[in-house]
Order: sequence, then structure tokens, then C-alpha cells
Amino acid sequence: MQRFPDNFLWGGAIAANQVEGAYREGGKGLSTSDVQPQGIFGPITPRKDGDFNIKDVAIDFYHRYPEDLALMAEMGFRCLRTSIAWSRIFPKGDETEANEAGLAFYDALFDAMASHGIEPVITLSHYEMPLGLVQRYGGWQDRRLITFFGRYANTVFKRFGHRVKYWLTFNEINMSLHAPFTGVGMAADSSAQAIYQAIHHQLVASARAVRDCHAMLPDAQIGNMLLGGIVYPLSCHPDDMLETLRQNRQWLFFGDVQAHGSYPAYMERFFREQQIQLEISQQDLADLQHTVDFISFSYYMSGCATADPALQQRLRSNILDIVPNPHLPSSEWGWQIDPQGLRYLLNLLYDRYRKPLFIVENGLGARDVVAEDGSIQDDYRIRYLNDHLLQVAQALQDGVEVMGYTSWGPIDLVSASKAQMSKRYGFIYVDRDDDGQGSLKRLRKKSFFWYRDVIASQGASL
Ligand code: BG6
Repeated sequence: MQRFPDNFLWGGAIAANQVEGAYREGGKGLSTSDVQPQGIFGPITPRKDGDFNIKDVAIDFYHRYPEDLALMAEMGFRCLRTSIAWSRIFPKGDETEANEAGLAFYDALFDAMASHGIEPVITLSHYEMPLGLVQRYGGWQDRRLITFFGRYANTVFKRFGHRVKYWLTFNEINMSLHAPFTGVGMAADSSAQAIYQAIHHQLVASARAVRDCHAMLPDAQIGNMLLGGIVYPLSCHPDDMLETLRQNRQWLFFGDVQAHGSYPAYMERFFREQQIQLEISQQDLADLQHTVDFISFSYYMSGCATADPALQQRLRSNILDIVPNPHLPSSEWGWQIDPQGLRYLLNLLYDRYRKPLFIVENGLGARDVVAEDGSIQDDYRIRYLNDHLLQVAQALQDGVEVMGYTSWGPIDLVSASKAQMSKRYGFIYVDRDDDGQGSLKRLRKKSFFWYRDVIASQGASL
């Protein structure tokens, strides 16, 4: 296998609410994740003393990050993608003064990363926001959130700019169409009009963060983050082709705004036909012109689209309802495995945007078994990741500019969709179960050594 580029950013990706725990320490306020104990598709549950939410402790990364970073460094990580919990910095979301203890935690974390030569890749908002912004403003449907987010973004740019060179704005920004509470802090039955208005505010906030990042940190790069929910036509019937175009545009629309700096023409028809009338100011249009430096995305699986209602036998996956592809196998959680889809997606995004691409999530959620000798033989995970990375290599050969690859959950963490520990992604095993039992001890899985060799050989060992 040909070697990957020397400056390729190899690493892993995690998110604050899925690893940190310490949900009330250091002055942190409640976040939307704190009231979703069963994950992003579970009910919203007001906090009561004594209620169990596995994320309250998660994998205790807040206290154990020195050990975890040392293990990642042992694998040779060049970068680690994580997020800042907005509610650690602005506990209620609308304060004018930042919470110093929250800033100090990330100072220490980023210093520790630097001491291992691990580059931070920082998501400003990963599936959570201060709960106060939902309670007092109704989430992103209120335009004032653009200001609050801007204050937060500028605070962390200023404080951490000397350490952080790679920034992402909103994790899987397109997922608000599927899980509005997690994405924009709004109820699932909100009208399409209200959701798209909230999305508009978030797109403006993202573009302003790009503007401010460029002004404040000339050496930094800032990207967007899309859930790469690619669908193929279930058949070559023209109706299916058009349905596929429609469905792919539902998520590519976000990238089109963030990379091209304006709403694409096809959305005008969509808004007209759905009777959606957005409030968009002249200033918004000017702000949107601040386009991202690179496109980052997650990729776990592909799906299919059909125009035939009879064939729309739906399969609930993480975030998307997709029609299954009859040619592909599935994981235990019903996610279809399609390594070639990653090459396809990389080519599609590069053709469309002509900007560097960063694969910031990819991986296999599976149950692991710890053998009596303490080893974990996760060959299924190695196979999944190896097959996907071979397709990244193909895309590089196709001429696609790929900046890096961060596998999802290099250390086991709490799953987003169902808040499970038993759905594991890691190279590093964490001893904790779905009921919160376990020592939190870390163990190296077989894939740990496999990934170490991949990085050390720059992909030659694939
Ligand atoms: C992505 C999210 O959608 O998928 C992550 O950005 C999430 O936060 C990942 O954890 C995997 O999904 P799940 O539900 O298996 O954790």
C-alpha cells in the first residue's frame, strides 16, 4: 500500500458530553445532553437529584485525560478531535463573563496534548448547548443565539488560539433536521418553518465564527462538519435518481451554504413549495460569505433512496431513516458497512467544493469481549477500519485532497444515539457497562496495536 502524505493528520475523535463526565464540576452549567439520559432519540428528562445519567461520569475523561492522552500518544496520534462544552465556559449561555474554571480545564487539556505533540482539532459545538438557552430563548429559533455563540467562540479563540490551529463549528450541522433538540435545542414536533429559521441562525453563527477566526487567528484553519449521509438510488429508474438527488441535497445544502457562501438555487423552490419564509437580513447574506477553509465530515454508512412508497421499508439508524442497500452487510446496530462509499463520498465532496477534506469520524460500534487474560480480540473493528482506510488511499490516488482521518471513539465512550457503553468504538477499552458499573480501567485492544502500526508506517501496513 502506498504511503499517505507525510503531513496527514492521523488520530481519533471524541466529544465532551460523551467522555468528560464531571457534569457539575468547575462551575459547568447543565447542557441539553444532561437532560437526555437515554441519548439523542430518548426523551427529554428534567434533572432530579439521584437520577441516573451515564454521561454524568461518562468515562471520566475530565479527571483521567493524562492517562488517556498518554495511550493515544503511544499509538502515535498526530491529532485528537474533541469538543469544548459550551456550558463549561458560559454555564447558562447568555452571561457576559466567561467561567474561568471551565477555561482553565481546557488550558490544562490542550497543554497536555501539546506535551505529547498531539494537535487539537476542536469542535465548538458537538451535540450540546447550555440548557439555559433552551429554557430562556427556545433554542436557535431565537436570533440572539447568534450573539451568544459569537461571544463563546471569540472567548475560546482568544484563550486557546496559541494552542489550537484546527477548528470546526457545529458537529453534523445537518442533523437538526432529524434530532432538533440536540441540534438546535427545539422540540421534535417543531414546524419546518421554525427549524429552518433556527438552522439559518446557526449557519450565520458558523459563518461569523469563520470570519472571527480568520481575523483573530491568521494561522488557524476552520471547517464545517457534515454528517455524510450519502444515499444511492435503489434502482436506476429516473424517479429514483431524482429522489436520490433530492435526499442528498437535504444534507449537502448545509455544505453548499458553508462552502459557497450563499443559499443554493434549489433551496428556493424547496422553501417555496413548503411555504417556508425565512427572515434573512442583508447582514446575514454578507456574513454567510465567510466560507470555511476545509470540509470535515463523518462517515459510517451509506443508504438508498427510492421513490416507490411500497419499497420504503425504513430502517432506523443513528440519525437517519434510510432504506437498506441489499448488497451490503450490517453491524449489530443495523448500520450498513460500505467502505467504497467513503471513496465515493470523498470524490463527490471534492468535486463539489474543491476544498481540502477531513474525515473526522468513522468507525464500528460493536460489543467487545474481554478474555480471561485481559486481551480483546477486536478483529471485526480492524477489518472495518482497514477496509475504509484502503478506500481513503484510493481517493488520494483519485486526486482528492484529504487532510487527515480521526476514527470515532479511539477510546470507548458513551454512544450518542442510545447512551450505551456497550456499543464500543475504541482501540482502548474502558471498563464500564450500561448501568454505570465498572472500574473505569483502560485496556489496550488488539486494534490498538494495529492502528499504532498504521500510523507508524503512514498507511503502508494497511
Ligand atoms: C456521530 C456523532 O453521529 O455518530 C457522534 O457525531 C456519535 O457523537 C457517532 O457518537 C456514533 O453514533 P453512536 O450513536 O453510535 O454513538
